[in-house]
Amino acid sequence: MASEQLLRLTRRGPGAVSTATRHHLRPVAGIMVRSITTDVLIPPHSAQPVVRQGLTGRSSVSGHVATVFGCTGFLGRYVVNRLGKKGTKVVTPYRCHEDSKRHLKLMGDLGQIVNFDYDVRNYDQLVAAVKHSDIVYNLVGRDYPTKNFSFEAVNVTAARDIAQACTDAGVPRLVHVSALGADAQSTSGFLRTKALGERAVREVFPDATIVRPGTLVGYESNLLNRIGFYRQFLPVVNHNRQILRPVDAADVALALDAMMLEPSTTGQTYELFSAKPYTYQDILDICSAAFRERVHAINVPKPIMKAVTAMLQYWYYPQLSPDEVERMFIDQVPTALNDPSIKTFADLGIQPRNFELTVLPYIRHFRRAALTDLGLDQEGARTFGKHHSS
Ligand SMILES: NC(=O)c1ccc[n+]([C@@H]2O[C@H](COP(=O)([O-])OP(=O)(O)OC[C@H]3O[C@@H](n4cnc5c(N)ncnc54)[C@H](OP(=O)(O)O)[C@@H]3O)[C@@H](O)[C@H]2O)c1
Repeated sequence: MASEQLLRLTRRGPGAVSTATRHHLRPVAGIMVRSITTDVLIPPHSAQPVVRQGLTGRSSVSGHVATVFGCTGFLGRYVVNRLGKKGTKVVTPYRCHEDSKRHLKLMGDLGQIVNFDYDVRNYDQLVAAVKHSDIVYNLVGRDYPTKNFSFEAVNVTAARDIAQACTDAGVPRLVHVSALGADAQSTSGFLRTKALGERAVREVFPDATIVRPGTLVGYESNLLNRIGFYRQFLPVVNHNRQILRPVDAADVALALDAMMLEPSTTGQTYELFSAKPYTYQDILDICSAAFRERVHAINVPKPIMKAVTAMLQYWYYPQLSPDEVERMFIDQVPTALNDPSIKTFADLGIQPRNFELTVLPYIRHFRRAALTDLGLDQEGARTFGKHHSS
């Protein structure tokens, strides 16, 4: 589109949808079909015009550019997929392994997923990663501290640096993912630094949207995969009394995507959690019923579990960290239940999936082969669990 034409179209001011939508009649296999070619929109929170092209879908161009930090993680792939599905160009900063971002390339049309090799400690690289974007998502986080990165380094310093880079580069929107239960007084280093990270982000980017999801579930879920992998002998703590609010990663990605086009989400805090609370025992029962095999959980005293997991930190890929053990004694209680200023799925018009009904595909592969095809309530084998006993 010629620049004078673009200017003419955008002169109507913020929020205006231009008349540039052109309905073309074009012949396809002898039939005349109507197609929308281009459209120009000035989002209210941004001075930059967004030029859309084509029908919606992966092969179209939404005109938006998003940067997703933490794109190589569990939630990251769902977020990039949702954005790519709408034709949004996604900058995907990654580190270390070339292979860590390969799967993301397929989530958008050619040239729409832009991989960017970076180090979160390199400020210039952060600015370069965000400067073309009209929204930045920060999903960077880690369940356990590592040799090179403490909880503070990942959850506070990196979060602040990304927010600062967004401010310096003039990015209009920042969505920062924290965690349900983030609390500056928490005995868990993860939850404490997540709260400090939220504060640091708001200090440098007051309009940032903060998102606190409950424990994420999906194919890559640590919670479910650990139960499935160790179902014959699962060391647990707290007598399985911890209350969790598990949330499907696909629902969180849907919410993050919705925030991109919804100006009312600017500066808000969202808590995304299941409608119903589950104890860890409920989750074991649901998994037992889905496996059709009892999960054998053995309660271990907290100090012993902490000592064992502390030693496991020297293992190549730690299964559990002492801080996660600490978190297993902290119930996930959404503040949104008592504080109306904290928003939830309902404010985005999203109905989150029911954990019991959606969990089976995520853990079906842990079943014995003879039972693989059976549905949750199908006869054919014994069922286990408090809620599902036959
Ligand atoms: N999973 C949950 O149940 C849960 C619950 C509540 C909140 N959250 C939060 O939601 C966000 C996404 O969670 P997730 O489950 O997708 O986490 P994840 O699978 O562990 O992915 C974390 C992402 O952060 C990146 N990252 C970690 N440390 C980094 C560092 N030092 N420098 C650069 N990148 C780094 C990882 O990059 P590499 O791939 O290179 O390691 C990865 O892309 C996180 O902030 C997490 O704390 C998760």
